[in-house]
Amino acid sequence: MGRLHGKVAIVTGGAAGIGQATCQVFSDEGAAVVIADVNAKAGKATEREIAAAGGNVRFVKTDVADEASIQRMVKAVVREFGRIDILVNNAAVFVLRGIDATVEEWHQILDVNVIGTALVSKHVVPEMRKAGGGAIVNLGSISSFIAQPQFVTYNATKAAISNMTRCMALDLAPDNIRVNAVCPGTVWTQIVEKLNREQGRDRAAADKHPEWGGASLLKRIADPVEIARTILFLVSDDSSYVTGANLIVDGGYTAV
Ligand SMILES: NC(=O)c1ccc[n+]([C@@H]2O[C@H](COP(=O)([O-])OP(=O)(O)OC[C@H]3O[C@@H](n4cnc5c(N)ncnc54)[C@H](O)[C@@H]3O)[C@@H](O)[C@H]2O)c1
Repeated sequence: MGRLHGKVAIVTGGAAGIGQATCQVFSDEGAAVVIADVNAKAGKATEREIAAAGGNVRFVKTDVADEASIQRMVKAVVREFGRIDILVNNAAVFVLRGIDATVEEWHQILDVNVIGTALVSKHVVPEMRKAGGGAIVNLGSISSFIAQPQFVTYNATKAAISNMTRCMALDLAPDNIRVNAVCPGTVWTQIVEKLNREQGRDRAAADKHPEWGGASLLKRIADPVEIARTILFLVSDDSSYVTGANLIVDGGYTAV
């Protein structure tokens, strides 16, 4: 029997990248999985792929920057599956700007990365309480802890995620809800691929480049499934005594 047998999981931003890999890994472990993503085309494609592999999966179009959209999603999940046990707050936008970011750019990234994470949690937690507990994983980053050039906007949101995780863990422990963050280093998803392709690098060259894969101790960029497996650990009973943690998964990038 899978480690998530009988559980119902929501993954925001589950249509692509780390979120998509997480949906597949959760499904392989027996969970019913909800892909809550704003991108309907990619969300439906991921739904088809996981269903073809035998998964119990639904795509529910959701904009985490819109509270009414979140409320509709949570209602739809409860109507269909009756409960919610697991939430992965993974959706994010990559507004990579320095100190000259505009007010609009700040609102764009704060609304999705920070307020989106808070509001999805707000509407899912009452359902977890009814289920007797649950597990939430937020996606932080090494950017939660370090400075990177011209990343003021993004790194501010990821630092917020890191301490929101501790605060939520404190407040929700009495409800038997564990809250942790996974903080990846560089992962081969669409943003990393785009930034490298713009510089004429393919995956092999990006793995070797001193500012990308070469900056990690393992000398390569991570695959999304390597982050997904860490998220699986944190939502499963294998981590039953872990809460309030920011688990760095960076191939040793920040170790030195
Ligand atoms: N890729 C990396 O190197 C890396 C490193 C550290 C942390 N992270 C974090 O991991 C998470 C996933 O990153 P990724 O690279 O897989 O991203 P991605 O861009 O590949 O996928 C993000 C998904 O979120 C969805 N999304 C965006 N805005 C949304 C909204 N308002 N509502 C609902 N869905 C929305 C997108 O449609 C997309 O499917 C993010 O939180 C990111 O900050 C990524």
